[in-house]
Amino acid sequence: MTSYLPYGHQWIDDDDMAAVADVLSGDWLTQGPAIEAFERSVADYVGVAHAVAFCNGTAALHGAYHAAGVRAGDEVIVPPLTFAATANAACFLGACPVFADIAPATFCLDPAEVARKVTAKTKVVAPVSYAGHPADVAGCRRAAPGAVVVEDGCHALGGDRSGLKVGAEADMTVFSFHPVKPVTTGEGGMVVTNDGRFAERLRLFRSHGITKDPAWMEAKDEGPWYYEMIDLGFNYRMTEFQAALGESQMKKLDAFVARRRELASRYDEAFAGQDGVVAPPHHEGHAYHLYPIQVAPARRRGLFEGLRAASIGVQVHYIPVHLHPYYRRHFGYGGGDFPVAEAFYGGEISLPLFPAMEDEDVSRVVDAVTGLLS
Ligand SMILES: Cc1ncc(COP(=O)(O)O)c(C=O)c1O
Repeated sequence: MTSYLPYGHQWIDDDDMAAVADVLSGDWLTQGPAIEAFERSVADYVGVAHAVAFCNGTAALHGAYHAAGVRAGDEVIVPPLTFAATANAACFLGACPVFADIAPATFCLDPAEVARKVTAKTKVVAPVSYAGHPADVAGCRRAAPGAVVVEDGCHALGGDRSGLKVGAEADMTVFSFHPVKPVTTGEGGMVVTNDGRFAERLRLFRSHGITKDPAWMEAKDEGPWYYEMIDLGFNYRMTEFQAALGESQMKKLDAFVARRRELASRYDEAFAGQDGVVAPPHHEGHAYHLYPIQVAPARRRGLFEGLRAASIGVQVHYIPVHLHPYYRRHFGYGGGDFPVAEAFYGGEISLPLFPAMEDEDVSRVVDAVTGLLS
């Protein structure tokens, strides 16, 4: 029987399991040293001063927008081609997600479209490094000089741009550690930043807005038990065993990305002469979380169903967020609002891509795509 090939899959080895087991037999299951070690390893890898772990990428986005000062009535500019959480996190704060179309050359937020959407209420611009292709953070900053740039780098840990790792350029960058992402903690997220004030706000936000730091407290000498809640926060903490898994995974990140790039270049070569298949745009710092191809919209459904029938677990990334009923109903968006994102969605299919794939798996997918389209 042909084995099922998912579009993404985690890589967990003996070192990862030993790291988790070690924490489970120790004293700290939450709020202990493994979190700090994992945060330090991501901050050092990316080349920034601070990293704050969260229980998932959505909570990390919520924290980043809050830390940026997003409040009710503010606007957050996001691309329609993303997972819903990038926009939803603005709604959590009572802010208004304002969509701006993507650039056809990168499928990431188009700075020219950002410039058209900026108003006095714009607090954050959130470019998404879609599929692992580094977004134009500098262009977004120029397009919205008064806004905080929060990169949604959930697809792009391990990627780089202009000699800097993804995570080093925006005011804050958010990562996700869901199993299909570049490294995993099961569920998990992180915000990285060079700004100490953002990092402080993020730490407060993930743990009920509570501090024990005398510098932040109103009453200084109540006693050693004393703490204050100085902001409204959540319980958005990551566990110690997740952090131990994350730190162990970080040791393999470069090898994971290198393998993803190798597999992607095999796909690129195979599709180079193939009529009817458009490969994703190349960028030398691409992290290749996904390998999104485009076909004629009329062929997409048949190809998708044919690949699934051949046990090839393709996906579609993404239904443009503004087209979901929630956004149509609450914000009045509709079809035709963002033609580049909608056209991309119309013919998109994400092919399997993850580090444990064999070269033969790529050949199997390419043969299936070619056969179904011929
Ligand atoms: C672009 C993007 N942003 C945000 C998220 C949310 O991350 P999480 O699933 O860890 O909450 C995801 C995860 O699917 C994502 O792909």
